[in-house]
Amino acid sequence: MDFIIELMSNRRVLNAYCNEQRVITMKVLFLTNSICSDELAMVTRYSSMSTRKLSKALKILTSDKCMVATSDYNDFHKMVKRHVLTNVLGANAQKRHRSQRDTMRENVASRLHAHVNNSPQEAINFREIFESELFGIALKQELNCYTDYLLSEAKTLTPEQITMLIWETIIQTADTTLVTTEWAMYELAKDQKKQDRLFEEIQNVCGTDKVTEEHLSQMPYLGAVFHETLRKDSPVPIVPLRYVHEDTQLGGYYVPAGTEIAINIYGCNMDKNRWESPEEWKPERFLEPKHDPMDLYKTMAFGAGKRVCAGSLQAMLIVCTSIGRLVQEFEWKLRQGEEENVATVGLTTRKLHPMHAILKPRNW
Ligand code: HEM
Repeated sequence: MDFIIELMSNRRVLNAYCNEQRVITMKVLFLTNSICSDELAMVTRYSSMSTRKLSKALKILTSDKCMVATSDYNDFHKMVKRHVLTNVLGANAQKRHRSQRDTMRENVASRLHAHVNNSPQEAINFREIFESELFGIALKQELNCYTDYLLSEAKTLTPEQITMLIWETIIQTADTTLVTTEWAMYELAKDQKKQDRLFEEIQNVCGTDKVTEEHLSQMPYLGAVFHETLRKDSPVPIVPLRYVHEDTQLGGYYVPAGTEIAINIYGCNMDKNRWESPEEWKPERFLEPKHDPMDLYKTMAFGAGKRVCAGSLQAMLIVCTSIGRLVQEFEWKLRQGEEENVATVGLTTRKLHPMHAILKPRNW
């Protein structure tokens, strides 16, 4: 069979896919429910399927594979991934950028307080505020050091490649991190009991101090909220397509050259054999002893193997502390009718309609 497509009953995945490839004209193999992270890692190990075949739009937008995420797996990929980890996204780099994240959280909190003081009954478009602050932090990270670093250390890169690499981390920070935080706040605003449970944990751990990154390891429920949002509302529902340029055997299938492989992360996270009541948003599932609290890869949200997400640490730090601060400072309720707004748009699961919530300041 040269066209194997497991059509999913899942409209988000189809939306994301169809937005990107309006007309499906090539051979596509959809790997869905049955794969697990080891198999995804295996897919990424095959040199016969380590290239990307970009759509015309992505070719233009990425100056033809100049970004880490859109490049083929080759020496260029290894070099630029090392650069971005060393300077922006790795653990040491994240320590250096810490004060920028603290400032961002303060800015978000004070803008929300200003709104509540001026119009206490009016629902707020959380995205409008959070997105502009995220964009700000991404720009500061880039301009403060990454640009200088690339210009001085990465002498083999062309100006076009440098521009694309800088642009890549800006859009990644401002998109997936926003998508995850917005879905988490939507779920918490919808479920008062779970929001109360999180607030209780925050109070027990932080007392009268503001939530900081140092508190994260002591707040298992906050971590569970993050992972459950990544599972149910998978920000990247399909791993960027891999192109098979040589005939390959994969999981018992013969995969001919010219096939593209789409790994359906959302399908894996909704697999009834692996998750009880997968349609339910239930952070408690991640408190079970079988989940290591410190494991950042409990779901396949960040991919796996050598193409695993480079920004997972930054995403966790920003999303978790932001959720913590937002719930510490305010009680969140969805605006009437908001619950139904679950449609998404784009390659990530960005909400089509930004969440609007009514906020009530807490006394803590
Ligand atoms: C919750 C937020 C995020 C999620 C769910 C996510 C998810 C993913 C996924 C699924 C991949 C593809 C892995 C593959 O091709 O196998 C990826 C790759 C990547 N992500 Fe993220 N990401 C997030 C945040 C970020 C952030 C904040 C940045 C940077 C600022 C970032 C930078 C990258 C890069 C550079 C790659 C390409 C890695 C490679 O090809 O080797 N991501 N991400």
